[in-house]
Amino acid sequence: MKDLSDFRISYEKYNLSENSISEDPLSLFKNWFDEICDSKQVKEPNAMTLSTVDSQNTPTNRVVLLKKFSEKGFVFYTNYDSRKGKSIANNPNVCISFFWPSHERQVIIKGSCKLLSDKESDKYFYSRPKDSQIGAVASDQSKEIPNRKFIEDKFRLLNESKSKITRPKHWGGIIVSCDSIEFWQGRKNRLHDRILFDKDKKNNWVYKRLSP
Ligand SMILES: Cc1cc2nc3c(=O)[nH]c(=O)nc-3n(C[C@H](O)[C@H](O)[C@H](O)COP(=O)(O)O)c2cc1C
Repeated sequence: MKDLSDFRISYEKYNLSENSISEDPLSLFKNWFDEICDSKQVKEPNAMTLSTVDSQNTPTNRVVLLKKFSEKGFVFYTNYDSRKGKSIANNPNVCISFFWPSHERQVIIKGSCKLLSDKESDKYFYSRPKDSQIGAVASDQSKEIPNRKFIEDKFRLLNESKSKITRPKHWGGIIVSCDSIEFWQGRKNRLHDRILFDKDKKNNWVYKRLSP
């Protein structure tokens, strides 16, 4: 077994100083995200870890793809009847996080979920390649299936059928409105920069520096 005790790197590439941040965390998120995308060093920069808590208070993480962000929130698409969908219906509070190793950065967002409108979900669903649409229809996400052939047969039958593929009502977008957002920039000697934005009583963004 590998000895992991020496697995560590020194983070020395960037810093996050108060001079470089505006009052609005979305601008900072956009700057970071654009920088990561433009660098082409991260294969899926929009992959984010989504944490939910189920009705038994058990947390679960999984990766989903960010498809849009604005001051309204962070959007991903999924099956509302999946394990995460059920957890969110029971408790809309979630955490999403990004780790971009090339830039030694982490972002942690906490917020509350709402389903997107049918119109918005339709727009995205029908913009996807046909195979992805069929995949979404074929998969009762998170349910047990007997074997691999079962899902492949389902996909094949839908693919061969002449009928139009329509978005299942249980598949669509979820928007996470942002209550707090923490920006973490790795620094030398483990003295990382951490800037946490949350809202004051007047619902304005305020930020503070946290100890690493
Ligand atoms: C890189 C990557 C991207 C993914 N994107 C999505 C996504 O956008 N939506 C989705 O429902 N699942 C996505 N998945 C699959 C989820 O991680 C997860 O397996 C699935 O949603 C079922 O989760 P659940 O049983 O907790 O509901 C992705 C997985 C990976 C590794």
